[in-house]
Formats: sequence, C-alpha cells, structure tokens
Amino acid sequence: MNRRKFLQSGTSAAIGTLAASRLAFGADAEIVLSPGEPGELISPHIYGHFIEHLGGVIYDGVWVGPDSRTPNVKGIRKQFLDDMKRIGAPNLRWPGGCFADGYHWRDGIGKGSSRPRTYNFWQRRMPAGTDSTETNQFGIHEFMQLCRLIGAEPYVAANVGSSTPTEFHDLVSYCNAPAGTLSLAGERAANGDPQPFNIQYWGVGNESWGCGGMMRPEEYATKYRQFVTQFPNYKEPFLVATGPRGHSADGDIGWTTGFFEGMRGFELPNGFSIHFYTDLRPTPLKAADFNQPEWYEVLLRGVRIDKVIETHWQEMGKFDTKRRTKLVVDEWGVWYKPGEELAPHYILSQPITLRDAVHTGLTLDIFNRHADKIAMANVAQTINCIHSLFLAHGPQFVRTPVYYVFEMYRSHMGARQVRVTNPVAELNVPVLAGEGRLPGLSASASIREQRLAVTLTNPSAQSSLRVRLRLAGGARTTEARGAVIASEDMRATNTFADPERVASVPLAVKISGDALELTLQKQAVALVQCDLN
Ligand code: AHR
Repeated sequence: MNRRKFLQSGTSAAIGTLAASRLAFGADAEIVLSPGEPGELISPHIYGHFIEHLGGVIYDGVWVGPDSRTPNVKGIRKQFLDDMKRIGAPNLRWPGGCFADGYHWRDGIGKGSSRPRTYNFWQRRMPAGTDSTETNQFGIHEFMQLCRLIGAEPYVAANVGSSTPTEFHDLVSYCNAPAGTLSLAGERAANGDPQPFNIQYWGVGNESWGCGGMMRPEEYATKYRQFVTQFPNYKEPFLVATGPRGHSADGDIGWTTGFFEGMRGFELPNGFSIHFYTDLRPTPLKAADFNQPEWYEVLLRGVRIDKVIETHWQEMGKFDTKRRTKLVVDEWGVWYKPGEELAPHYILSQPITLRDAVHTGLTLDIFNRHADKIAMANVAQTINCIHSLFLAHGPQFVRTPVYYVFEMYRSHMGARQVRVTNPVAELNVPVLAGEGRLPGLSASASIREQRLAVTLTNPSAQSSLRVRLRLAGGARTTEARGAVIASEDMRATNTFADPERVASVPLAVKISGDALELTLQKQAVALVQCDLN
C-alpha cells in the first residue's frame, strides 16, 4: 500500500502505524477541495475582538490619552489602530467581561476632567499598592471613536448584574436615538456625537452564572426577558444572551438546557454566548517556557472547543427548532496561570508563543467549519490580556504570533465555505496524562469571487508534512501563493527587542495538474490562495 492509500484507509490500526511513521519520517497527505459547491457564508464577525477595563488593556493598551508622547489619534494608540485596520477587525466587544456587570455608562460621558473615579471589578486582583480605580476616561464616545477609526462594529455588553433595565434602555436610547428626538439624543450631541451610533450588537450581561450575578439559568432567563422586552428599537438589535462556561469539565450543558427551558414560549435571543478558554490556570504549565508534552497539552485542550460547539448546538436545537439563535463565542483563548505578566499591574497579560499561534489556527479552522452555527466570536483579549494579538507598554508595542494568524485568516472573512475532505489520520501525542489524540492536519477553505483560500495547521512538533491540495470538480488554476508562520523553536515569540521573530513568510506552492503541492513545516500555520480559472 502506498503512503497515500495508507493514509486514506483510516482504520485504527492504520492510525497507530501512521502516528509512528509520522514521528519518524513525515507523511504525504492529499486534501480534496470542492470549490464548485460553496457552503455557508463565514461570518466576518467570527474574526472579532474583545477589550475590557482590566490591567493594561484599555489604559495604555488602547487608550494612551491625547497628551501622550506615544503616537495617538485622539488619545487612541495609533499603532493599535493601524494594525486593527490591517487585519480588518470586524467588531469590538466592550467594556467587559466581568467589568461590564459593574459598569455604569453615565460615569464615562461628559468632560474627561469631570468624570468620576469608580470601583473596578478587577481592583481586588491588582498588586497591593497600585491605584487601580477606574478613571472613566475611556467611555462610550471614545469606544465609538475607536470603532469608527478601525471600521469595526461595536458590540456592547450591558450591565445586568448590578443595574436595571432602565439603565440599559437609557444607554440604548443615548446611543441610537436619532438626532433631535429624545433628550438623551440631545445629551449625546452635547457630548460631541450628534449622529446616532446605531449599535446593533448588544450583550445582555456577561457570565451571569459567575461574576455577572451568580444566577441560575432560569433566573437569568427571567432577567434576560426583563432587560429586552422594552428594548428601544431604533436599530434592529442582535441580542446576545449569556451562555455557558464551555471550558467546564462537563461543558456546562446544564446552563444551556436551563436557559432554553426558561425561555419556553418567549422570543429567543439572536445570539447565545459561549466562553471557551483553554484554561491552563489549574496546571503548572507556563506560557513562555515548555516542553513537547506541554506543547501538545495546550493544543489538545484547545480542540475540545469543536465538541463543545457541537454539543451546545444540538442541545439548543431541542428548543429552537427554527434555529433563530446562533452561537457567539465571545471569549476564547489560551489562559495560563499568573506569573509571567508584562508588568505586575498588567494582570492577565502573558507572553504569546508559536504554540498559541498554532492553537489559533486550529481554533479558527474549527470556527470556519461551524460557520452555519457561529454568528460571531471574539478573541480574549486583543491587547495586553490572555490570548493577545498585541502587547504594549508605554511607547513599546509588538505584534504577537497570534496577530499573524489573524492576518492570514482574513481571507476567510465573509467568504463561502468550501468542502474539505481531509483524510489525514490523528496523531498520537504525548501529553501530561500520558497520551492524547490530535488532528494530524487541520484545514479549512473558502471561496469569494473565484478566489480560493485554504488554511492549514500542522500541530506536529516533530514532522513536516508534504501536502497535495487537489481541486475537485474540474476546477483549475494557473497561479498560487502561499504564506506560513513557523519556527524550528516551538517557544519562539516576539518581544519588544525582537519584534518579528515569528511572522508570516512566503511559502512555495507548486501547481501540478489539478493540485497544489507544498511542504508544511512542523508546528506551522499556512495560507494558500489561488484564483480559479
Ligand atoms: O477575559 C477575562 C475574563 O474572563 C472576563 O472578564 C470574564 O468574562 C472571563 O471570566
């Protein structure tokens, strides 16, 4: 049996032998793409973002203030703006996270010098002696300015945990009432924005099972209805209800069942959130320094999201037979235990390595494949927190390896899924508890106006992979381009001193009849694009 036939056989005996052969030699893989039968639209919002008033995210990360020596546009860090535009950031979730359920939006409007100092949920996590009160210099107007400058849709998480429906409705009217109508529209104009913000995406609370109010799902369902029934409908909203803690051991399926039970007979939300962290906090794993089993441990925990999405989607379908409600994975990323922060008061910041980039490739491929279920996803968080695309401290700024994956996957945004037949067998990998099974090669593909984009992630820390991308249905191309993010060092990272150690570089792609051929290095994420004839 030749190696390709062997790969396609897919028996468990073959899987075991393949894993062994890959460890020793690398392997061939033939991926079949069917661009002639486009599938679901991949919502651009799957490539969304999240920033919270926490540690160094807003203050310093995003907002340096108009008087800062760090280049800025109306107080917003210029480099952040430029790079968010470069990746076409489609949306931005704000102001939290846990911060949202303690936030009162009126504190963040009016003249900066008159805004109050208020309590910030994250204060208790800050190092002793740090002044971590909320200055409210970044409020709804500054947030909207940021969104406009980037060209991103705002996604605002409302305070349900410590607020009232009235406070929420007033915020919505303040943002969306047309100029010259409500007094709240006049107040918005007096604060510098005569034209309505037209915010469509509203999160009705955040983690209402935890920091957002410690509710039971049925209690939250009641709250949800109270908060949305009198919603001021200036702009048809996309309302997102709080969903499960997807990274819990049992996936928190009880929350989903309980919420939808509680909503029986009532209008369902447009979106139902899932939070899924690859949560390494209870483990000894470090962000910057690790060995091979620890490389695989992170990736293995990360791909669990596939099953979590599927399980919650199935559960929702028992109640929502018309499929009104889509999933919104509005927090996801790898979260390591504290100890490697950028600065002590930049809590929840952590170094980002090639491992996190590979995790990103695996995750985004999973999202693309579930494009029929997912309306939006938001990486947690965009800058200076958890799975960041950027790290910044004063005038210093660096794009992490995760940034380059987002830059690559931009081609899928708003394109149509292309069916991928991926016969590559799973890898048997060493992990903390012994052995685990990881996809041997991750792939997703899309098409827009005859331009085909294929993303590939090789999670193996041991072997490269010779890949043939066969175009089914008679599709042909005469040119192809490739780019890859890889390194011989699995711990490779970008620092202020060495900012481009991990970045995307060209990848050679050869056209051979009906196929594109390439070699994908070990521990690598790649993009192949071509225009079909
Ligand atoms: O992203 C950090 C925190 O993680 C958020 O504030 C919260 O929603 C989640 O638990």
